[in-house]
Amino acid sequence: MLKTPGLAVQVDVSNAASVQAMVDKTVKQFGRIDCALNNAGIEGAREKIVDYPVDMFDRVMNVNLKGMWLCVKYEVAQMLKQERVVSNPETWSDKPELCRFQGQRGSIVNTSSTAGLGAMPEFTPYCSSKWAIIGLTKTVAQEYAKEGIRVNAVCPATTDTPMRDRFEAHWPDWQAKTDASYPVGRVAAPEEVAEAVVWLCSDACPFATGEYLKIAGGR
Ligand SMILES: NC(=O)c1ccc[n+]([C@@H]2O[C@H](COP(=O)([O-])OP(=O)(O)OC[C@H]3O[C@@H](n4cnc5c(N)ncnc54)[C@H](O)[C@@H]3O)[C@@H](O)[C@H]2O)c1
Repeated sequence: MLKTPGLAVQVDVSNAASVQAMVDKTVKQFGRIDCALNNAGIEGAREKIVDYPVDMFDRVMNVNLKGMWLCVKYEVAQMLKQERVVSNPETWSDKPELCRFQGQRGSIVNTSSTAGLGAMPEFTPYCSSKWAIIGLTKTVAQEYAKEGIRVNAVCPATTDTPMRDRFEAHWPDWQAKTDASYPVGRVAAPEEVAEAVVWLCSDACPFATGEYLKIAGGR
């Protein structure tokens, strides 16, 4: 059970000043940022591209891509100011060279989607933004790999959240169909995605950076 008191900060990820303020308040409270999950996202409208509203394209891109870009930008800027930490030195005690090189300043995880690995008809902005998150993740991972900052992505399939309920509103029989479409016979619980994020945030595998982890129930 987490004993550290939390901090709730209201933020609009599409606004640079708002994201910077979130980072500043976090550092003021906790002293540093060891790990960050950038998870905010909206699905937008359901229309084929010809009928898709242009203003909704802007909204989806502002939250899903610009928002992710801003969060990564200000989180990395903060992490660069921090000392490297090896949180589990006993694991690396017989490999001091790895310990020396792999102590990390911070670890970032961005939420993409299986929509970032394939097509999602009638959701072009959503799908495009989720592909772009993988490009962002891999590029920043390479930019700061030598600085001890790791950046990875998760690509969950359908997960049981309010977003899933909204998809259900688009397709009334969607829930039964999606459950059946996964070899495990159900969609993901949010906790299952969270466990993968925690692993990526930890320094259990310091060699993992620029990766995208698909979590899709065997599909
Ligand atoms: N639910 C799924 O099936 C599924 C599958 C794959 C990926 N995802 C992704 O998982 C992430 C979380 O989605 P979810 O399923 O929990 O949906 P959700 O709608 O329950 O949660 C999305 C969250 O993003 C926040 N948000 C929206 N715009 C914001 C903004 N401008 N600034 C700050 N926060 C903002 C919302 O307040 C909400 O808390 C999203 O990136 C989504 O694309 C979801």
